[in-house]
Amino acid sequence: MEHLDLPPLRRAAGTVKLPGSKSISNRMLLLAALAEGETEIRDLLDSDDTRVMLAALAKVGANVTPVTALGNNAYRVAGCAGVFPGKAAELFMGNAGTAIRPLTAALALSGGHYTLSGVPRMHERPIGDLVDGLRQIGCDVRYAGKEGYPPLEILPASVKLAAPIKVRGDVSSQFLTALLMALPLTGEKAVIEMTTELISKPYIEITLNLMARFGVTVEREGWQRFTIPAGQRYRSPGRLHVEGDASAASYFLAAGAIAGGPVRVEGVGKGSIQGDVKFADALAVMGAKIIRGDNFIEASAPAGKLKAFDLDLNHIPDAAMTLAVAALFADGKCTLRNIASWRVKETDRIAAMATELRKLGATVEEGADYLAVLPAPTLTSHAAIDTYDDHRMAMCFSLAALGGVPVRINEPGCVAKTFPHYFDAFARITAPVIAIDGPSASGKGTVAQRVAAALGFHFLDSGALYRLTALAALKAGVALDDQAAVARVAAELPAEFVGDKIFLYKEDVTEAVRAEEVGNGASKIAALPAVRAALLDRQRAYRRFPGLVADGRDMGSAVFPDAPVKVFLTASAAARAERRYKQLIDKGMPDNMRPLSQDIVKDLDERDARDAARPVAPLKHYPDADRVDTTALTIEQAVAAVLDSVHRKLPFFN
Ligand code: DC
Repeated sequence: MEHLDLPPLRRAAGTVKLPGSKSISNRMLLLAALAEGETEIRDLLDSDDTRVMLAALAKVGANVTPVTALGNNAYRVAGCAGVFPGKAAELFMGNAGTAIRPLTAALALSGGHYTLSGVPRMHERPIGDLVDGLRQIGCDVRYAGKEGYPPLEILPASVKLAAPIKVRGDVSSQFLTALLMALPLTGEKAVIEMTTELISKPYIEITLNLMARFGVTVEREGWQRFTIPAGQRYRSPGRLHVEGDASAASYFLAAGAIAGGPVRVEGVGKGSIQGDVKFADALAVMGAKIIRGDNFIEASAPAGKLKAFDLDLNHIPDAAMTLAVAALFADGKCTLRNIASWRVKETDRIAAMATELRKLGATVEEGADYLAVLPAPTLTSHAAIDTYDDHRMAMCFSLAALGGVPVRINEPGCVAKTFPHYFDAFARITAPVIAIDGPSASGKGTVAQRVAAALGFHFLDSGALYRLTALAALKAGVALDDQAAVARVAAELPAEFVGDKIFLYKEDVTEAVRAEEVGNGASKIAALPAVRAALLDRQRAYRRFPGLVADGRDMGSAVFPDAPVKVFLTASAAARAERRYKQLIDKGMPDNMRPLSQDIVKDLDERDARDAARPVAPLKHYPDADRVDTTALTIEQAVAAVLDSVHRKLPFFN
């Protein structure tokens, strides 16, 4: 079995750019495919569930093409004006509820012969209420396996919309979504009446909002009756952006509320159309500090413990799972009510959640539609969490590691359903960074590498990125003071680190980047703000589990300001010059080529003065960094001094 071992974590802080919303992505794809005209969709979610929708649309003849020139995840959809050209297809729907439900309804009105099947769990997820609704208007939808569940077979039929369609709303709101999105294809007036209380209402709001953007309005009487006036057609609105996924935001916001923060998610905000942004209100009930902007939400921990809660969570069923795990950090028993829909999701989420929370020491009471969680004073260490092929189980249980205990997540790959890079994003706000800054030739490179090896952490030599940029610019004949041009070189930098070797354009430049000329060039271009900005994300991407040791000039001040361990490693100018001189001898540089030692001192002084005097990210000993002066230390002693800092600040990494 595959697994991911999360180390004990204590702090979460930083910013995460959210992937696109699954609910919005799949609805937009279908509406764009059904519309008249061409739609450009930007920031579509790239995940298993959207790939299921894309593949299905291709099979029924919709013309959806990626537009790589427009950046990540942009698509152009040539709408088929309400009629899919493909009249026969076998469609595999994986475990994507947001694909099978609306497609079933749209295909039932398309006059073709289709089959829809999925993974075994999909064949256990009910779809009977939707099929009943479609049969009321004459659609020919048959069960190819068990009555009430996929796989389904759809045949051409003549449809009559005389009486209101009666449908249940208490199993899944997606049945209503599916009918609402498909019925305008008939061009006739359609009325839907709910026979039971509608759950997950915010998802219906997303549906109605997106239909309106495609030109179809629905008259709503409370949440009981929906009327689609006759004669409406979907028309492309042109270009659309997919909002960030508000359900995915819940993990990061909860991390901020549990473990310090602030954690900011970008891609959702005040004007979001997704119901799950209300998750932040639930965190506020627990005492978390929440800030909302137009395109971000931010959460920080309260001064004391998070407070226990008793909440009806019917409106945020997906994000509510995150609250169940956040309950492990509360000051008392937490009750999650009105969550019966959990039973028919990717897995029986009430049962799965109860089982896994108990592994962490919680006392859990499980009801038909509720869960009560009484956390233990400390979390059980080394729990191995099963994920039930449910992306949300994997994502929300990653939060347990914030209790400072190691946690194993079994089959972590299931996050690909909606968030393939979830654990990298989670590492970006939680994996500890040991930031080692200092002047040239202070020994930080060697020390940082050995500290990384001792802790089993990743290693970032940020100076190498500046040196590589300088080398690439020199090779390309770019003037080192042409800020915009050098920044472009930095942003594109086709460099690879393979073991101890560094490659640029596939050429081994391990030695070349160490040349004095390149070092001096690096120091010059490092003073250019646009170059520093271009390298920022690249450096931050090195932050992965179990942790990172990063060396440079501004690791603790600018790149990883929330690093839990910061060290300023220095040595006297004379000692540094002597080390540099010895390095040159060790490298075999002949006597007549070697610079005079006073020239090396001068060179180092000049470089340090430039690195210290620049207005952006200057080299400086900030008060939050431990000072380690290596003038009189051996390498082993310097490593021991840094590890001492690590063990004081991160005792659990002993
Ligand atoms: O550490 P080094 O000698 O390899 O760094 C080369 C140059 O890059 C150095 O003179 C300053 C610059 N640099 C920087 O400005 N910020 C960093 N984080 C690392 C290096």
